[in-house]
Amino acid sequence: MLTKKYKGIILAGGNGTRLFPATKVMSKQLLPVYDKPMIYYPLSILLLAEIYEILIISTSTDIERFKNLLGDGLQFGIKIEYAIQETPRGLADAFLVGEDFLDGSPACLILGDNIFYGSEISTSLKSAQNHDGGTIFAYHVADPERYGVVEFDTNHKVLSIEEKPTHPKSSLAVTGLYFYDSNVVSYAKTIQPSYRGELEITDLNKIYLNLNNLNVITLKRGFAWLDTGTHDSLLDASNFIHTIEKRQGIKIACIEEICLSKGLITKKDIIRMLSNMGDNTYSLYLRRLVG
Ligand code: G1P
Repeated sequence: MLTKKYKGIILAGGNGTRLFPATKVMSKQLLPVYDKPMIYYPLSILLLAEIYEILIISTSTDIERFKNLLGDGLQFGIKIEYAIQETPRGLADAFLVGEDFLDGSPACLILGDNIFYGSEISTSLKSAQNHDGGTIFAYHVADPERYGVVEFDTNHKVLSIEEKPTHPKSSLAVTGLYFYDSNVVSYAKTIQPSYRGELEITDLNKIYLNLNNLNVITLKRGFAWLDTGTHDSLLDASNFIHTIEKRQGIKIACIEEICLSKGLITKKDIIRMLSNMGDNTYSLYLRRLVG
């Protein structure tokens, strides 16, 4: 049963050193993935999950740019707050930074550089919120050693989760989308920094696993979970979005469109926003939508 409303956290910190020099003066999560800033993609996932109170965490330099981009969210009919994580202290640290924002609510954390695309996403997002404890998503990848890796037994019961194992026990990577109940902050406080000096999300997941309270949803092969961590994978992600959008004539992660479909804003609100958008394929798309 859905008892309490989830709040969302987008973690958009880090130095983006693997994308240098593209990230020398700008956060990775603000770089474009085809026709929109990267953060639009995880933000769209929270909106599809009907999570409308959102905290964006970034560094003190970049946070102002995110504020310039998205403001307080009111124009989209949602609420966006901001918090600073000065150094990358790990994904689980998001719950310490976000403690006041969460204020006892259950939480959905999504990484600012993760792109999810697939038709069953809304169903999965709903079922994650209906589960007590924690829910994470597993996805088959060619290079599991780069991620958290989940191992199942033949009955789809989770046997183990390991962070970046040298010898992965499966090809199922843990994606950067996590749902936790309201215990998450207190559990995160018990985690000790790992060998790389970070509060690992894998350690948080292990806490839920040991309590027998971790639900793992495996995303099917027809689903796309894209990486944007290197110059090549960022270009691949842009090409992927471009291919689908061009073929269908429908945009992926168009925030205004999603908010309109959720009844958070009206066509009139979009028409007002269009007056500051200039002429481009994004504004043309919105013009058609409201025309
Ligand atoms: C982090 C997590 C890892 C997860 C990955 C998803 O990795 O530690 O478990 O699979 O995000 O993107 P990192 O980005 O810290 O290398």
